Amino acid sequence: MGEDIIRLARRRWFNYADGIRLDMDVQRIRRDFPTVRDGRGIYLDSACQSLRPDSVIQAILEYYQEYPACGGRSVHSMATRVSVSMDETREALASFFGTRDPDCYIFTKNCTEGLNTAAYGIGLKKGDVVITTDTEHNSNHVPWLNLEGSVGIRRRMSKSGPDGVFDLEAFHKCMGHDVKVVSVQHASNVTGCTVPVRAVAEIAHDFGAKVIVDGAQAAPHMPVDLDRIGADIYCMSVHKMLGPSGMGVMYGKRDVLEELKPLTMGGGTVGLTTYTSVNQAPIPDRFEAGLHDYAGIIATKAALEYLKGVGMDEVRKWDHQLMERILGNLEDVKNLQVVGPTDAVSRGGVFSFNIGGLGAHDIAMMLDSMAGVMIRSGMHCAHPFYVSRGIDGSARASTYIYNSPEEIDVFTDTVRHIAETFGD
Ligand code: ALA
Repeated sequence: MGEDIIRLARRRWFNYADGIRLDMDVQRIRRDFPTVRDGRGIYLDSACQSLRPDSVIQAILEYYQEYPACGGRSVHSMATRVSVSMDETREALASFFGTRDPDCYIFTKNCTEGLNTAAYGIGLKKGDVVITTDTEHNSNHVPWLNLEGSVGIRRRMSKSGPDGVFDLEAFHKCMGHDVKVVSVQHASNVTGCTVPVRAVAEIAHDFGAKVIVDGAQAAPHMPVDLDRIGADIYCMSVHKMLGPSGMGVMYGKRDVLEELKPLTMGGGTVGLTTYTSVNQAPIPDRFEAGLHDYAGIIATKAALEYLKGVGMDEVRKWDHQLMERILGNLEDVKNLQVVGPTDAVSRGGVFSFNIGGLGAHDIAMMLDSMAGVMIRSGMHCAHPFYVSRGIDGSARASTYIYNSPEEIDVFTDTVRHIAETFGD
């Protein structure tokens, strides 16, 4: 026990002596999240889905209690309130992501749906080349693999370093005038490594290629200025950024959206149809077929407002501080292997690891049952990354604004205990 206290004290010293100040008002933030407030365990699975603050839950409740109607169709008062609220969310998105045209934001059910809409709609033909990285999530891998089989596109992969760090020079070498699309993740859900998407977009555009970005792991964790990045299409999952479950957004430049073929068609996506003809509705309606998750769309605005109140620079800094703490606390655990880089700057809020002699699911279940710490385990939908490196999978802890340093210490103390007691 005495040894434990010395170890803990040394770790604290390490963190503070290193000039890291834990300065975000996390206790105030924690009071806004019901599951945190009610002590329902230590949630370190935000790369999968984040928790939601009261304001988001309240917006959902308000919709169902006060105006549970459809948007963009009926003209009665309840429906009009929904339609106006949808417009307000699009305006909030445009302001949050630094663009001018709210109609360029398409509501989807997740980032995956946005990426599929982009891949299938962008009009690729046999022989066209698509470049991805070798660290993509399945959502930015499987659609291209499928198009290779069905249409005959050719795929090229920009190789990362052994730790998964993006290599801009390697990417540049992949480029050529046969490349029609470059589709890359902005941040990895395994290593946390980011891709310099602005530089990638500039290079790709020089070759006349379109640029699609999977922003699922970046948009919730760092400032994202879509005008500055210059990607043609940028997709994200709102449920990873304090928003409701099953909500996503696909942003596209207007001229790109004008040319993009919708993935689903039907009610709401058309102007006038006859038995033999159909006129497409304008953007964004042509991409939003059928009735939508109106509660989700409306509560998305509340999520954006919450994040804006915290400040995306602060969000990024907080993830970084917590990651410094995780890495510092665990650096002397002998049988722990980190998947990806071991510096906090590269990792964002994603810590993937293995313990010698234990399976990833065993680690996750032990953390939950021993200390109420919830993490994710497996291949995290990034199978090629693991298979190519001969790794069966990993445990993964991912942080967000509501995680406290004390929670991190419980996590790392329990990981240490598991490694020392049950590992090889
Ligand atoms: N892609 C999500 C994750 O990394 C589901 O957990």
